[in-house]
Amino acid sequence: MKIAIIGVGNLGYSIAVGILNQKKDISCKSLYLSKRDLSSLSRLEKISVVKLTSDNKRAVKYSDVIIIAVLPAQLKNILEEIKDEINPKKHTIISVATGRKIKEIETILDEKTPIIRAMPNTAISVGQSMTCLSANENGHAKMHQAKTIFNALGQTLCIDEKHMQAATVICASGIAFWMRLIRATTQGAVQLGFHSEEAQQLSMQTCLGAARLLIDSQSHPEQEIDKVTTPSGCTIEGLNEMEHNGLSSSLIRGLVASYEKINEI
Ligand SMILES: NC(=O)c1ccc[n+]([C@@H]2O[C@H](COP(=O)([O-])OP(=O)(O)OC[C@H]3O[C@@H](n4cnc5c(N)ncnc54)[C@H](OP(=O)(O)O)[C@@H]3O)[C@@H](O)[C@H]2O)c1
Repeated sequence: MKIAIIGVGNLGYSIAVGILNQKKDISCKSLYLSKRDLSSLSRLEKISVVKLTSDNKRAVKYSDVIIIAVLPAQLKNILEEIKDEINPKKHTIISVATGRKIKEIETILDEKTPIIRAMPNTAISVGQSMTCLSANENGHAKMHQAKTIFNALGQTLCIDEKHMQAATVICASGIAFWMRLIRATTQGAVQLGFHSEEAQQLSMQTCLGAARLLIDSQSHPEQEIDKVTTPSGCTIEGLNEMEHNGLSSSLIRGLVASYEKINEI
């Protein structure tokens, strides 16, 4: 694949680094990185497949997969700028702009253009993103390209576009929700006598272990909870106290509040 990333900020940069670290899986012949101020990309300058440019049209011309990672408000201008360079038979457009629908992109580009909407999260920088993907009619035939890129940077799930806002809350905002849970359990561990670094290590690895247990054993969370809740023991005592204070309910209500907000924006 010849890949271009237009807009190489937080997310675009993480995708670029991920692609460069996964060259075996992705087989990237060239990687055009385009932004107006290139100074933040100087570290990537010497890598042979990397071409730095501020010319978005040039990046499109010499690539076949175009990942657009600009802010939602900047997307329309970028599409207007590159539309004459887009050849629907050659190019696949992958947009990661939050909240920008495939239909909005189709109204600017030729509707035959394969368009894929992707919603990754910031764990993409460590190759652990959960990325949801949707496509227009022609985009389905090119979905393998998006999967190749984002599977090398974590996991992907193809979803109906109508679920994209919900996926944004669960996966992209979800990083913040899980961080707060890790932070809270770290604070609890400090109160129980651990130094903060040790406390965070205990919290992070326990969180990672819980997820890994479910992934590897393919069991249900309640099955794993049953294994550690001795009758009349300390785990069920703590868990029930958390539930009396609304743990599950407050998490679900938080997700729903985020979802309602994202639909207003
Ligand atoms: N961060 C997340 O967790 C996350 C998750 C999923 C999706 N998203 C979405 O991903 C997109 C990017 O987010 P971000 O956090 O990476 O934003 P960001 O850091 O602001 O990056 C945007 C980049 O676009 C570049 N840019 C602006 N105008 C341009 C132009 N005309 N031509 C070329 N490049 C241009 C900017 O660089 P210059 O100013 O140098 O041009 C900047 O590097 C957003 O739409 C966001 O909603 C983010």
